[in-house]
Amino acid sequence: MATVAGHDLAGRRVLLVVSGGIAAYKALELIRLLTGQGCAVSCVLTAGGAQFVTPLSLQALTGEAVHGALFSLTEESEMGHIALSRSADLIVVCPASANILATMAAGLSHDLASTILLATDTPVLVAPAMNVRMWEHAATRANIALLRARGIHMVGPEEGVMACNEYGLGRLAEPPAILAAIAALLAPPGTHLPLAGRHALITAGPTHEPIDPVRYIANQSSGKQGYAIASALAALGARVTLVSGPVALLVPRALHRVTVRTADEMLAACRAALPADVAVLAAAVGDWRVETVSPSKLKKRPGGAAPSLGLLANPDILALLSRPGPLRPHLVVGFAAETQEVVAEARAKRQRKGCDWMLANDVSAASGIMGGDENEIHLITDDGVEHWPRLPKLAVAQRLAQRIASALPQSPTLEPHP
Ligand code: C5P
Repeated sequence: MATVAGHDLAGRRVLLVVSGGIAAYKALELIRLLTGQGCAVSCVLTAGGAQFVTPLSLQALTGEAVHGALFSLTEESEMGHIALSRSADLIVVCPASANILATMAAGLSHDLASTILLATDTPVLVAPAMNVRMWEHAATRANIALLRARGIHMVGPEEGVMACNEYGLGRLAEPPAILAAIAALLAPPGTHLPLAGRHALITAGPTHEPIDPVRYIANQSSGKQGYAIASALAALGARVTLVSGPVALLVPRALHRVTVRTADEMLAACRAALPADVAVLAAAVGDWRVETVSPSKLKKRPGGAAPSLGLLANPDILALLSRPGPLRPHLVVGFAAETQEVVAEARAKRQRKGCDWMLANDVSAASGIMGGDENEIHLITDDGVEHWPRLPKLAVAQRLAQRIASALPQSPTLEPHP
């Protein structure tokens, strides 16, 4: 049965229209993700887009000539704009500026990108990116409504801080979310989403354990791996609850994120999210919390002694969720971040905590994994240990999501949530 994750983009072709905007640099990351899945990408760069990224960067990453001019004799003799508009399985406009969206809505054709978008009968996905006021302007609202009504697909925008330092809706969706939208659109008709009807609970990021109103105990976790796993499970059709400690990551729209600060809050949010078919606990939960949190800021007095902090052990969320009982998820997956004897430590930890799978990784400074974009995993299950090559965190997440999909029983064990 076909699925929409993994390497199903192999052999597919995307025509990527890069329009103007500071977010254009993220199109380069999207190309890397697409080509990494075996998808061919050719680019059309608008005059505005060329102010932000160069044809050479696009060409280097796609390995294909970049199209720019409408009335180019060479380009027309090699591939005319009509042929170009039909050459791909999907046209993706990323970033889609307010201008190109207005151009599409009005049906103008004053440059190669707009002509292709008018001439095509290929599905089109737009990833808008603009200042919040432009996004909220009545003209843009009307254009978006018109484009949606015409069947144009849309991913994002997200809410967040923009390049202009304003806050609001208008940020380009993150490249992994755009990739997931592309994969879903390119999935062959009748493709089965293997995790449809499933509920996945993910924890991610660090916890902050307060010392006083301004200080806390934290750790280096970036949350990237947990967020990537949450996105990958959602791309396979799962309903995802992402319980996240404080991180600087945007939440992909398809996910329900519950933000927490402390280990106690994380445990309460996980319990509230049950039942779940699968729980992947990727958070770096603080092992200890301060016994007595000072209600006022601890003061440094000249010549005074440093305060001594009594510590209490935090609840072990993984061990608690792994306990047998009616609410135990069918599959509980933990992480073991180790600096030595990685596999032996992780095996022992799996036994101790009672989870089904353990993903072990080496987080010693030499490995460069902590906070980075890659990970090297040893998957420990009842069947033994599987060593995965060093992969981007997104690819680790997709591989894990596929494994989870194959490991769950045929039909969901749970009633779908309201
Ligand atoms: O014991 P250690 O922190 O190495 O265990 C790591 C695994 O246990 C991770 O999956 C982590 O999310 C989980 N954990 C937890 N609650 C804790 C400590 C760790 O869920 N208090």
